[in-house]
Formats: sequence, structure tokens, C-alpha cells
Amino acid sequence: MFQGEYGTAVEKSMEILVALGDIYGAERMVEIESAQISGVSYKTIGDAGLEYLEDLAGVGARVTVPSTLNPAGVDLERWKELGFSSEFSYKQLRIVEAYKKIGVITTCTCTPYLSSNLPILGSHIAWSESSAVCYANSVIGARTNREGGPGALSAAICGRTSLYGYHLESGRKASVVVEVKTSLKGVDYGALGYLVGCEVGGGVPFFQLESNPNSNDLKSLGAALASSGAVALYHIQDVTPEYHLAMRGLEVGDVELMTVETSDIERIRRKLSSSPNKPDLVCLGCPHASLDEVARVASFLEGKKLKNQLWICTSILVKAAADRMGYTAVIEKAGGHVVCDTCMVVAPIEELGYEVIGVDSAKAANYVPSMCGLDVVFDDWENLLVIK
Ligand code: F3S
Repeated sequence: MFQGEYGTAVEKSMEILVALGDIYGAERMVEIESAQISGVSYKTIGDAGLEYLEDLAGVGARVTVPSTLNPAGVDLERWKELGFSSEFSYKQLRIVEAYKKIGVITTCTCTPYLSSNLPILGSHIAWSESSAVCYANSVIGARTNREGGPGALSAAICGRTSLYGYHLESGRKASVVVEVKTSLKGVDYGALGYLVGCEVGGGVPFFQLESNPNSNDLKSLGAALASSGAVALYHIQDVTPEYHLAMRGLEVGDVELMTVETSDIERIRRKLSSSPNKPDLVCLGCPHASLDEVARVASFLEGKKLKNQLWICTSILVKAAADRMGYTAVIEKAGGHVVCDTCMVVAPIEELGYEVIGVDSAKAANYVPSMCGLDVVFDDWENLLVIK
């Protein structure tokens, strides 16, 4: 591959993988089971990214393992209805088309594990969306570094990645024990992730929790850890699959201790809101909503009318199930939208005339002000929705 025997696209991709391996001291490559590729929204990759991808597709680049895409900048089918400009949307569609030519499955979601890209315990993968990396490493027990978009695409084309970091047993040990002395629910998990991410940076937190998180809580926790810090893996005692390996072989002093009290969670909940006003647009689904999250919102909205706008961001696969179950119809009747393929951070929502965005995700609360220049209110979704 490196010597060009398999064509230009493979050669260039392998050059990237070898360079990464050299930087991080990898001894060899490892075959991967799947890839998840970021660098999709026209808002983040622009014309340079679009041209790069069209060139790559033009020289015959093809992925060799199941690979899925991160969210794009618009709902690929309903962009007009949601108010996105034609200029932005057409370029976005070209980006997704180029990925499709390369063989990437264009489900455009940051929760690929809910939509057909589900690795198994111990499998090596090359994923790049930071919240999905955190979920895959921590909740599933698969193994991936936080790949950049080009690294994940190169790995998808070559079917391999460099063996270092979280692919190795030694890279998966805890660095901080986090004793959480309060019971958590709803957005508290995101607040905890934000707080701990700020403290541990790229470390590996080992949580001792009083409460029992479900899989939605775990995706919120990981997304927040990965956005305020650079966490790619966490363990939770008695919950995540590798917690019993996280401390093995460590000496006293290898691991720091952090405690979290109720007041810490309350402080972060307040800190993550930048406006005292009610949101004019509520955006749920960061990371992309699961079917049961959509179902709960639909059940809450049954027979009601919304005063503020509502988007629930998810994948087309989850939306298809929500359509069949009648959840989408209930949400639309109340005045909301189930939005596919995109999210409040990578879509150009700053161009749609909204001023205050309501989110129940600490990751979104962290990014919306900087990426979109808008105010946010961070709270449980029931408190964000205003009923007529
Ligand atoms: Fe996903 Fe967008 Fe949040 S990519 S994790 S919904 S910022």
C-alpha cells in the first residue's frame, strides 16, 4: 500500500497512517472492523474539503471496511423546509455524494452505534466523532483513538490503523478516580462530564456513582467529557465492561482522586447557560437521539402545542422507526420537527434568525456559543419547552 501498488488513493492514505504511527510511536498496524468519519459539514470543511473529497472520489478511492459518516450541515431531505440556504445545501449534498462514491454509508450520525455501525467488545475500529469514540471505548469496549477526519478516512480506505494509544491494554488504564457523592439524573450526567473533562483533560476517569445510568445518560456523559476535555475513554464501577481491568497493575500514586458533590453539579448547570431568557429554538439530540428519547418527547407533547420551535436531531434510521411508531406525527402536530443528518452545532443555525438555543446537552451548551455565536440555555428538556 505504502509503495503505491494499490493506486494513488491507497498510497496517500497509507502515508497518513504511517505518519500518525511515527508520531505516536506505533510498532505496527492493526486491522479495523469499522470506521466512522467526521469532516462532513460544509460549515466545518468548506470548499477546500469539498474539492479534496471530490478529487479523492475521482481517483477511485474506496473504503474497505463498513464506514459511516458524522452529521452533515443540513437535513439532506428537508433542508428547504427547515430554512437552510440553497447555496449551502447544494455544496453539502455534493460532499455527501463524494463520500457515497467512496463507499461510505451516508447515515450522517454521531450515534452510529444506534444505526448499524455497532462494534463488539475488544474490536479495533477507527472512529473520529469524539462523543462516539467515548461511547465505543467506554460503553461497548471497542478500541479506537480519537481519529481526525483524514485519519479515519485513510483507515477506512486501507482497512487498518496504527496500533497505539487506546488500542493497547496499557492505554486503557484509569488515571483519576472520581467519587460522585450525589445522585444524578437528566442533564446532571452532562454536567458531570463537563466538570470532569475540564479537570482530567486527556486522562481516563474511573467513576464511582451512587445512581444507575442508562445508555442515554452514558452517551451524554461521554459527549461532555470529550468536549470540555479530550477524554476518549471512561470507566464506571459495576457498569462499563472493562472497569475491572482499569486499575489492574497500577501502583498507589498512579491514580489521582477527585470528589464531586451536589453543589459542583449545580454550579456547572448554571455555568453552562449564557442567557436568562426562554429559548426560541430548543435543540435536543446531542448526541443524536435514540428512539426512546424521541418517544418520551412525543409522549410529553401529545395533545399540546409548542410556543417555541423544537428540533430533535437524530439519524434517518431512528426517524424511520419514529415515523412508523407515530412519534414524528405527534411532534409535528405540536409544532416541532424530527431533524435528520445534522445538529445544532454543525448546521448554520446562526443564519436562521434564532437568538437563544435551548439544549439538554452539556456538549451542545459548550459549543453553540463558540461555533454559532448564539446564547444557550442548558436544562432538562421538559423545562425548555414552552407550551401554549
Ligand atoms: Fe452529535 Fe452534533 Fe452533538 S455531531 S455529539 S449532535 S454536537
